[in-house]
Amino acid sequence: MRPPSAMVLSDVDPREAVPKKTGLPELDRVLGGGLVPGSVTLLAGEPGVGKSTLLLQALRSRADMGSPVLLVAAEESAQQVRLRAERLGPLPDGLLVLSGTDVMAVVEAVSETGADLVVVDSIQAVSLPDVAGPPGSLAQVRACSEVLVALAQAHRAAVVLVGHVTKQGTLAGPRSLEHLVDTVLTVEGDRHHALRMVRAVKHRFGPTGELGLFEMGEGGLAEVSDPYRMLLGDRRPEATGSAVLPTVEGERAIVVELQALVSHANGGNPRRTVRGLEPGRIGLLLAVIEQRCAVRLARSDVYCSVAGGMRVSEPAADMPMAMALVSATTGVPVPPNLFAFGEVGLAGEVRQVPHALRRLTEAHRLGFRQAVVPSSTPACSPGLELFRVDSVADAVNLVARVQTRTGHGLRLAGA
Ligand code: TYD
Ligand code: MG
Repeated sequence: MRPPSAMVLSDVDPREAVPKKTGLPELDRVLGGGLVPGSVTLLAGEPGVGKSTLLLQALRSRADMGSPVLLVAAEESAQQVRLRAERLGPLPDGLLVLSGTDVMAVVEAVSETGADLVVVDSIQAVSLPDVAGPPGSLAQVRACSEVLVALAQAHRAAVVLVGHVTKQGTLAGPRSLEHLVDTVLTVEGDRHHALRMVRAVKHRFGPTGELGLFEMGEGGLAEVSDPYRMLLGDRRPEATGSAVLPTVEGERAIVVELQALVSHANGGNPRRTVRGLEPGRIGLLLAVIEQRCAVRLARSDVYCSVAGGMRVSEPAADMPMAMALVSATTGVPVPPNLFAFGEVGLAGEVRQVPHALRRLTEAHRLGFRQAVVPSSTPACSPGLELFRVDSVADAVNLVARVQTRTGHGLRLAGA
C-alpha cells in the first residue's frame, strides 16, 4: 500500500463529512445535523440515565427511514431488547440485534449486513479474545475501540459506543477513549426528575456546547418543546432564597430558577449541599459573600440547587446564586419579575459574561421585567429595566432596598 501523500486542500471531498439525520430532532441539533458516516461517537452517562433508550429510539428512527441498523447488546439478551423496543412502538424491519460481547462478531455482522448505524451497548461490556484483561479494563476498552474505529471507517458506518460513567463523572473505563473517538456526547439528569440533558462535549464535525432537552416518560425519551413547564412551572415567586438566571448553552438561552436554603448548623461542620451547580464555585461564592457583603454564612448549613433537575456550570450563575443565598439569609425575597446574571470575582467584583443580549431577550420574552447585570451590559429593550452593578455587594443591597409593591410584584427603589 502506498503511504498517504499530501493533497491540495481544495481537492478534498467535503461530502465525506456530511451528517446523516438520526430522525430525533433534538439529538440532531446537538450533533449539528446528525451522525457522520465513518465516525465514532461516545455516548457517556451514569447508569440508568437513559443511554440505551435514547439510542434505541435513534436506531428505530433510522430503520424507519429504510437503513439497516445494528444494535450490539452486550449487557442485555435479545429478548430484553425486544421487550424494551416494543415499549417504544411497533418494531421496524431494518433493526438488527446482536446479543454478545465479542467485537470480532460485531465486525462480521457489520460486513454481512451493511448496517450504516451501529450501536455498541456498552464499550465496557465488549472484549477481544486475544487481548488480556477482563471487559472494561483499560487494555480491552482501548483495543475494542480501535477495532470499532477502523470498522466505522472501512464501512462508512456511524458507530456509537455507550460508555458508563461513575458518579464522579469520569468514564469508568479509561478517559483515553475520548481521544480515540470523533464525538463525545453526555447524557445527564437526575433519577428523581424527568429532564434529561444531552450535550456534545467534543465534536470534530460541528459545534460543542449545544444542549438537547428530553423528558423521560412511559414511551421513552420525548423531545421537550416547552422546557419552562418543568423548569419554572412550580416556581413560587414570592419565596425567599430564589433567584432567576437566563443561562446560555450553545446557541440557546434557558431561564432557570436557582434556590438556596440557609439554616442554623447544630454544631460540628456546617453542611454544604449542592445540586446542579459546581460545588467548588459555591464554596468560593460563600467566602466572597462572607468577606465582601458582611453576611455570615460560615456557621450555617447551606443548600443550593437548580430547580427542575437542570445543571448549570457557567460562572454567570454566581450573581443570582449570591442573591438567592443572601435572600435566604435575610428573609427578603428577590423581586419576582427580576432576574440576574454575572460572574463574581474574588474581590467581590461583578464581571461580564458572554451572550448578555441573548439572556436579556429570552428572560424578557418570558415576562421578566427587571435585571441585575454587570455594569458593561448594553441596553436591550425599553420594557426591560436594567440595574447595572459593579460588585456583588451592590447586587445584594439592591434586593435589600426592595420597597413598595406594585400590581406586577415588588419594585426596587433607589437604584
Ligand atoms: P436506560 O436507557 O436503560 O439507561 P442506561 O442505558 O443509561 O443505563 O434507562 C433506564 C431508565 O429509564 C429506567 O429506570 C427505566 C426508564 N425508562 C422509562 O422511564 N421509560 C421508558 O420508556 C424506558 C424504555 C425506560
Ligand atoms: Mg443501558
